[in-house]
Amino acid sequence: MPDRAGPLAPHPDLTDYYARSEERPKFVRDIFDNCAPWYEWMIAAPSLGSGSWYRADALRRHGWREGLRLLDLATGTGVVGRAALATTHGQGRVIGVDPSLGMLLEARQGPLRARLVQATGTRLPFADGSFDMISVGFAMRHFGDLNLAFGEMRRVLAPEGTLLVLEITPPRSRIARALLGAYMGRLVPLMARLRTGSAEAEKLMRYYWDTTIQCVPPETILAAMRDAGLTAPRRDVQLVVFSEYNARA
Ligand SMILES: C[S@@+](CC[C@H](N)C(=O)[O-])C[C@H]1O[C@@H](n2cnc3c(N)ncnc32)[C@H](O)[C@@H]1O
Repeated sequence: MPDRAGPLAPHPDLTDYYARSEERPKFVRDIFDNCAPWYEWMIAAPSLGSGSWYRADALRRHGWREGLRLLDLATGTGVVGRAALATTHGQGRVIGVDPSLGMLLEARQGPLRARLVQATGTRLPFADGSFDMISVGFAMRHFGDLNLAFGEMRRVLAPEGTLLVLEITPPRSRIARALLGAYMGRLVPLMARLRTGSAEAEKLMRYYWDTTIQCVPPETILAAMRDAGLTAPRRDVQLVVFSEYNARA
């Protein structure tokens, strides 16, 4: 295992939402706790294809199959874990991890049949080599330190295990970026507010877009995976904006 590199934040501090870096984990935990009851609607309605079918398809394409042990990191309400079990007709072992109790309680009330654990991606309460695959669905931007998080993922993956990180990456074209920004940064937050009546839901969707455009670029993410000792990291792009990062232990 290589020496661990220093901390790598996924994005700069976003002071419209919290004043100092130390406040970021609490801000993120609170906003997901508060929005948990609406989360599934918020991703289903304006999902741009990022619904359950996309998650299931991505898992399958990256090697998920019956008999494997999956850690669904940042499981939230369990959308990825459910998609995984749906593709194997309920066969397979899935453990969901998330720091937000509100999200985990929603996951518990839904049809997800998986063990749920409250923890963060930078400190995983599992033994070395416990999983054949790790999925991270649209949450990597919330990990406080990408180097630490990828190091932990590398540690709990079994030899030859697969890491799959799904993220949204803004398009390079300025016009496409402006159009997507108008949709995800303005229209979607407004729709969330109108549908839920909650200012927190609107704020979460704005934060989602702000973290999308402020996130470190794909090359930095791939380099961090390599620095953590993960092998053959690569990025596949679907529908212009969906980044699928894949690496092996
Ligand atoms: C946008 S939701 C994604 C949920 C689910 N993976 C999906 O695909 O819909 C982001 C999730 O990341 C979780 N999260 C935030 N900070 C985290 C951290 N440091 N470690 C692990 N999960 C974190 C949040 O609580 C939230 O449930």
